[in-house]
Amino acid sequence: MPRSYQCFEDEVRYDPDLHLSPEWPERIWTLEEFGYRPQEISQCPSNVAVTSPFRLFSSEGIDAVSRVVNRLKAVKSSIRGIRTPSHLAGGVYRSRFLRDLCACPVILEHMSAISGTRLAPHSLPSQQLYVNYSPDDITKAVDSWHYDGIGFDYVVMVTDPVKLKGGNFEYFQGTKHEVAEMFDMEVHEIRDGISDELDESRVIRTRFPRAGYAIFQQGNMVVHRAARLLEPGDRITVVPGQVAEDISYPDPTAIHDIVRYGEPGIKAELARHGAWLAQGKLQHLIQHQDMSDGDAEILEQLKRAVAEVNAVIEQLEQSDPPT
Ligand SMILES: [Fe+2]
Repeated sequence: MPRSYQCFEDEVRYDPDLHLSPEWPERIWTLEEFGYRPQEISQCPSNVAVTSPFRLFSSEGIDAVSRVVNRLKAVKSSIRGIRTPSHLAGGVYRSRFLRDLCACPVILEHMSAISGTRLAPHSLPSQQLYVNYSPDDITKAVDSWHYDGIGFDYVVMVTDPVKLKGGNFEYFQGTKHEVAEMFDMEVHEIRDGISDELDESRVIRTRFPRAGYAIFQQGNMVVHRAARLLEPGDRITVVPGQVAEDISYPDPTAIHDIVRYGEPGIKAELARHGAWLAQGKLQHLIQHQDMSDGDAEILEQLKRAVAEVNAVIEQLEQSDPPT
């Protein structure tokens, strides 16, 4: 727990039997349906792109979530760049209820079944739960087009969507590369957010039927946004983030961006994230290193096993050069 966070002390206890009412999504879109090639899909632990909205919380559950996020409104952080005008990261450090929700085995089991790969609460705790509040200025999108800096997440509608005009969850049914080409930019630049409109015919607009419904996505593979509100209204979503337990795939975590996030403790979180990945990969190497491998292969495997640690070191050195 980074020192500057303060945790609520008088919350209700999270209870999956009371607070959850999980249902299966009617529709699950695959990365193939988004136009990704087999080679790109083979680098992802799941073939799922995004789902239709499905019920996740009971009415008691969403009432409890709503109480917590309304209390958190008072401490919401200010914006970074042109992305989300009003969001709060690190929910799990501020609320035991939210921390337990993110670690809930029932939810993890459900999302793992949907994605087809074992998922865990994100290895960067500040990214385990975001809250997005509607901006005061409704001419601004709630969030501009982007893809996520983490592998998996689900967006839960907390407020009543029926009362809202606009503010749909929207995604582009295509690949990140197509979007980058459209705007003549590098793929990673999409992460900074695109305020312009995308080709209407390729944009899917999803309305949540009720509070307590969720959309699951492989967020680093889907270009998406929360569209602007057409009338002032209370639109709050919570976005829990997850990682695949199978670490044999390339790490989708955007550590080069995340190192610049202002969350207290973010650098320690990144160090632990890199250490977690390297630990598993080094263990695998100890057990499976072929004693007759060639010199080049041995070197390559060892470099791969510690690649994320070296990447974090590089980012930490760049962001805060030692004096
Ligand atoms: Fe997102």
